[in-house]
Amino acid sequence: MDTRKVYIETYGCQMNLADTELIVGLLKPHGYEPTQVAAQADVILLNTCAIREHAEERVLRRLGELVRHKTRRPGVLLGLTGCMAQHHRESLLDKAPFLDLVLGPDAYRHLPALLVQEDKDEPLVSVRLDRDETYADITPARGEGVRAWVTVMRGCDKFCTFCIVPYVRGRERSVSLAALLAQVRELAAQGYKEVVYLGQTVNAYRDGDHDFADLLWRTAEVEGIERIRFTSPHPADMSERIIAAMATCPKVASYLHLPLQAASNRVLEQMERGYTVEQYATLVERLRAAVPGIALSTDIIVGFPGEEESDFRATYDFMAEIRYDSAFMFKYSAREGTKAYKWGETLSEEEKGRRLQEIIALQERISAEINRQTIGQTVEVLIEGPAKRQEGWLAGKSGQFKTVVFPSTGAQPGEVMPVRVVSATAHTLVGEARL
Ligand code: 5AD
Ligand code: SF4
Repeated sequence: MDTRKVYIETYGCQMNLADTELIVGLLKPHGYEPTQVAAQADVILLNTCAIREHAEERVLRRLGELVRHKTRRPGVLLGLTGCMAQHHRESLLDKAPFLDLVLGPDAYRHLPALLVQEDKDEPLVSVRLDRDETYADITPARGEGVRAWVTVMRGCDKFCTFCIVPYVRGRERSVSLAALLAQVRELAAQGYKEVVYLGQTVNAYRDGDHDFADLLWRTAEVEGIERIRFTSPHPADMSERIIAAMATCPKVASYLHLPLQAASNRVLEQMERGYTVEQYATLVERLRAAVPGIALSTDIIVGFPGEEESDFRATYDFMAEIRYDSAFMFKYSAREGTKAYKWGETLSEEEKGRRLQEIIALQERISAEINRQTIGQTVEVLIEGPAKRQEGWLAGKSGQFKTVVFPSTGAQPGEVMPVRVVSATAHTLVGEARL
């Protein structure tokens, strides 16, 4: 069988990165090998994100660049997969008529068959959402390293009014507990040390009577796996059982990404987030009591339709009060098809930008302060490999999922070792190994 080469660029969240590994895993048995060089590829795919307009614009620009491979080398196939393919299934072929393939997130299984179809004159479009598709039987082609991403559930049933995800990824569905544990045992045997469970609302995971807490407990029993992390949980699904699992399993990271979005009850209600600021604050208290020293990160949207200055101030003040370790902060982007889209935009780009800059500055200050408090402490670092910026240094993550860099001791990726923090910035702890 001739080997054909596939080049994939991934945009967006970790689910998409995991989906890219899935696509490569699906194609490999059909004689495809991944390549990092588009100019050598027979198939070029962009695995895309639709969460904000900006992400989509980038992809369209990139498509305009990549189309030259088709003109230079007839026979090359250019395709778009993922959320943007699902979102713009109709208009995409007008904007990019040179596309050969348009595949939504539930259609990857058809990819090998579509690639060998005889008639390549018409673009191939497969965008049916499938309530049952979990790809549980497909082995993703994972990269080398200490960390393995494992998708435990797909889709989302929450329908927050700003969010396109439920429309492009479809309904919530989980992989069975047995299939996941088998996968994790296999990963441990292959030498992976950290498992990251992924799902759009990962803690809504369910298999019959088993919930996400069961998954954490059972995973912690797998020998060889040192760390367990998951993203992204929804605050409304953060049950006592899950908190207890986090508290009782030392392997579960002392870190949680807990998307807040906004801290005005009026805005939260219009977002249909399913919690009040008070309920969220109580949840943080319970987490901090159960898992002492837990690091928290969050997602914030500024400029949601109708967000008044007073609503924004409430979000700012809440962030100052909670003191997240880090935050992902975004300007609201109206997404066609969502409920909020119909409400239009009530703020200018400039005003949204001003609000965004204000919370970014606040968070940078808080992140730096929190990280500086760790100076002098010793943290357990799971080593990932050489540091990117300093020659001869190693990089890894602490149990709170903070990046730690330190001069190499010759230790290997996958080893866990104590490192004393000697200095810190908002994003990195700098340390020295304790031998
Ligand atoms: N505009 C801006 N940010 C958004 N997010 C989701 N939808 C939008 C949107 N329309 C953000 C939320 C979510 C994160 C993954 O992306 O904060 O938690
Ligand atoms: Fe989007 Fe809300 Fe679902 Fe998260 S929980 S993916 S923000 S709809």
